[in-house]
Amino acid sequence: MKFVNILINLVSVILLVCGCLAKPSNRETIMENEKELYSNFILRWTVIEGTGDIEIEIQANCTGWTGISFAEGQIGQPGSYSDVIMGGFNDDFQKGYSEDRHIDLENPDPANGHLFDDSNDILLKNARYEEPWTIIRILRSLNTGDKQDIPIVPGPMTVGWTYSSTDDTSLGHDTAGIGRVTFIPL
Ligand SMILES: *[C@@H]1O[C@H](CO)[C@@H](O)[C@H](O)[C@H]1NC(C)=O
Repeated sequence: MKFVNILINLVSVILLVCGCLAKPSNRETIMENEKELYSNFILRWTVIEGTGDIEIEIQANCTGWTGISFAEGQIGQPGSYSDVIMGGFNDDFQKGYSEDRHIDLENPDPANGHLFDDSNDILLKNARYEEPWTIIRILRSLNTGDKQDIPIVPGPMTVGWTYSSTDDTSLGHDTAGIGRVTFIPL
């Protein structure tokens, strides 16, 4: 066999083993809502009927990680924190990743800004890079019950958005802002 054929066969086997070819029509949730928070940042979401779950798609014009956050309280206020959902697509490994994190707003420490939640309550459904966009899909309960998360409730919510040119999630963002999003109408 020619080297190229061997390579193709090898790739097929790997794809089959990881199930990528086995179930190509894996039902994909249709994103019912969309909001552009910034020209380089689009948020889409669907609340999945009867499950208490929400699927969120983040499309950011970046080559690194991206994310959104919700805040409870204000910077400096005791007990206040921010709930962070972040992820991206690592080109080197051709692999998506996601992280459930939080920020201590009472005492924000720039050296260790985003702390991992004790409990990971987000599931990465999909991640890809389509130049220039990094697109990730995450499934989460509207209310995870984790005290390091913030429930997504009816009515407008303040959402922080952020993205980076690196997949190193220990490094800070390049660009960030805030917007208002009504995930669930009142
Ligand atoms: C993506 O961002 C770059 C600069 O960071 C900009 O030049 C380009 O127009 C943007 N592309 C889209 C589709 O917004």
